[in-house]
Amino acid sequence: MTRVMLIIAGCLLLSACNNPSTKSEEDRFVDQLLSKMSLEEKIGQMNQYASHWEMTGPAPKNSSAQKRLEEIKNGDVGSMLNVAGAKATYEAQKLAVENSRLGIPLLFAYDVIHGYKTMTPIPLAEACAWDPEISKLASQLAAREASAAGLHWTFAPMMDVGRDARWGRVMEGCGEDPYLTSVLSVARVKGFEGNDLSKENSIAACAKHFAAYAFAEAGREYNTVDIGTYSLHNITLPPFKAVADAGVSTFMNSFNIINGTPSTANPYLQRELLKGDWDFDGFVVSDWASIKEIVIHGAAEDLKHAAELSLKAGSDMDMESNAYLPYLKELVQEGKVDEALIDDAVRRILKLKYRLGLFNDPYKYSNEEREKEIVYSNESKEQTRKIARHSMVLLKNQDHLLPLSKNAKSIAVIGPLANDKNSPLGNWRAQAIKNSAVSLLEGIKNAVNPTTEIKFAKGCDLAVSGRNFLNELVFANADAKEMDKAVAAAQESDLVIMALGEDSFQSGEGRSQTDIRLKGAQMELYNKIRKLNKKIVVVLMNGRPLAIPEIAESADAILETWFAGSEAGNAIADVLFGDFNPSGKLSMSFPFNVGQCPIYYNHMNTGRPTSAGNVFWSHYTDAPNDALFPFGYGLSYTKFEYGKASTDKEVYKMDESVKLKVKVKNTGKFAGEEVVQVYIQDQAATYVRPTKELKAFNKQNYQVGEEKEITFTLDQSDLGYYSPEGEFLFEAGLYHIYVGTNSKDVQKISLKFTE
Ligand code: BGC
Repeated sequence: MTRVMLIIAGCLLLSACNNPSTKSEEDRFVDQLLSKMSLEEKIGQMNQYASHWEMTGPAPKNSSAQKRLEEIKNGDVGSMLNVAGAKATYEAQKLAVENSRLGIPLLFAYDVIHGYKTMTPIPLAEACAWDPEISKLASQLAAREASAAGLHWTFAPMMDVGRDARWGRVMEGCGEDPYLTSVLSVARVKGFEGNDLSKENSIAACAKHFAAYAFAEAGREYNTVDIGTYSLHNITLPPFKAVADAGVSTFMNSFNIINGTPSTANPYLQRELLKGDWDFDGFVVSDWASIKEIVIHGAAEDLKHAAELSLKAGSDMDMESNAYLPYLKELVQEGKVDEALIDDAVRRILKLKYRLGLFNDPYKYSNEEREKEIVYSNESKEQTRKIARHSMVLLKNQDHLLPLSKNAKSIAVIGPLANDKNSPLGNWRAQAIKNSAVSLLEGIKNAVNPTTEIKFAKGCDLAVSGRNFLNELVFANADAKEMDKAVAAAQESDLVIMALGEDSFQSGEGRSQTDIRLKGAQMELYNKIRKLNKKIVVVLMNGRPLAIPEIAESADAILETWFAGSEAGNAIADVLFGDFNPSGKLSMSFPFNVGQCPIYYNHMNTGRPTSAGNVFWSHYTDAPNDALFPFGYGLSYTKFEYGKASTDKEVYKMDESVKLKVKVKNTGKFAGEEVVQVYIQDQAATYVRPTKELKAFNKQNYQVGEEKEITFTLDQSDLGYYSPEGEFLFEAGLYHIYVGTNSKDVQKISLKFTE
């Protein structure tokens, strides 16, 4: 029993502390503890530091590291990020628990975005599975490894709805659609948190970044956000509301301003909406140094002022601004902030520690044996291979070139990413071991018969330096000798598989681009190989949609594999050689060129959507309006035929639901999965609605020749929307329902709702 438990034990039964259903016990425990805490100790709980130093060794004298160690011992720190591993977390926990007056355990947080050591595909890829079970599985896998490494809390899921491929952080989210993002983020939260946070294999999740960070102007990282309240309520906020309703433990605010107010200092978002209307009982952590940045934005005089604004706005924990620890006490004493706000923040933080079972055993997650057994285990690798196969999207398959035969005589494997064991791990890779992914080349060699001759030539390099989390990438120039080798390998082979795309550190935080075509000498290499008139399968690896119209036009087959994680090469080979029939659907539109960004399927119609035979319509004179590959798009090795979709009525009363059905048949030669997608359009709304909005989907496996009737029910919550003031509206009038295999190829049904 920890010191803090001993203090409270007189009043409470120990067994009750672990039972999440006895909420009143939790409240009583937390209230009792709070009543024993000094103002300084409370403020300490609201302070989060990152670890940049060795917790177990002596810190350099008079260094900031030494100061921080003393602060941990003194109870001035409530949480740490970036301390990972059973041993390191144990040592750090000991400092807090054994030295501070009340022995309150630390909360260990980390960016476990798509895996801890075993990497699953990046979230943008995972979202292409359109499968909540897959998303849940991926987060369960991450939680199992992270919890075994002593962690309590992940800064995931990132659920910023992203429409602009220039913004590098689209790789971390679920793409451009609020509904898909909502469904999958809820699944991810469930995967991380399970049903009981005190279980040893679950960790707390964090919904981030609240809010509208992905709307950074022109896709430039950390840039100004100028989003109207109409888009805010209908596009950005719904996924956050969905995870708040699902009980996510924490939120993280965002770096950007909204309507001139930095999110960290935004009382409307954090207090009125999240903790008020949505009744969220968890806590809000600031983003890294975002309290400090309120001063830089120009919304506070100094750090003390920023601390005051943030606390009042509802930011409960200070990540690395060092603003709360030095200033909150003074602010209370000066009467500028009410201590009740501090009590509220601390109560929220202590509740999470209670729910995790940390007051019962602060070391429960720091178990080196469990860590050895679970982290990077064969079971994890098997699972990530499964998730990866489901995340891949077949973009083109001319004349059914894929799947390939494992008995092919000779295959050339070409491209800078073909034998790259690092890039498939993606960015935000937590504790992944550098160069540990199965490369495409390795995967192909594992899959084909020993008689198949594999010739590998990289053709060019992609990035020559900066291949890490911190630095700018420098791209390689063409190298004539390497190109020649690649041309020779292609010439001598029956078929070419080319791995092209991005370096893993090309997307992620701080990685905005104005050009989203293939970097370096990749197009030159592609064009050289293309001229040989060999069949070419392009395997894309990337963290954002790319502008690749020439490849879309001329390659025979294109498989989008994103950054597929630790087992990338094996999973890609599973798809290329037909052990798995691809079923992924794009979670984000691909543009023809960067000038179309932001491009998204759920746009408004405008007053001039079509040509009247002259230039005076909403279009570009040098590129189409449409996406190169639209949202929801993805092919299969088999063929699905849709019957005529129908609804149960044509006219509905306002309290009735629409029952929709459609028959889908696998008329091809392979068993496979299909995602049936349902979109709506409210044709006569008080506020103009998008031409299409995803409202439901259904993914099923179909045997060859199998037909299924797929049914959907759409009710008011699906058909309504938010006014610019955030009021939910469901209105009478004409609606169109669209059913199909992607956001473009759909059939339409019209119906009416009447008062
Ligand atoms: C990112 C967050 C992340 C935090 C901690 C920030 O720069 O915006 O998403 O969780 O760092 O690493």
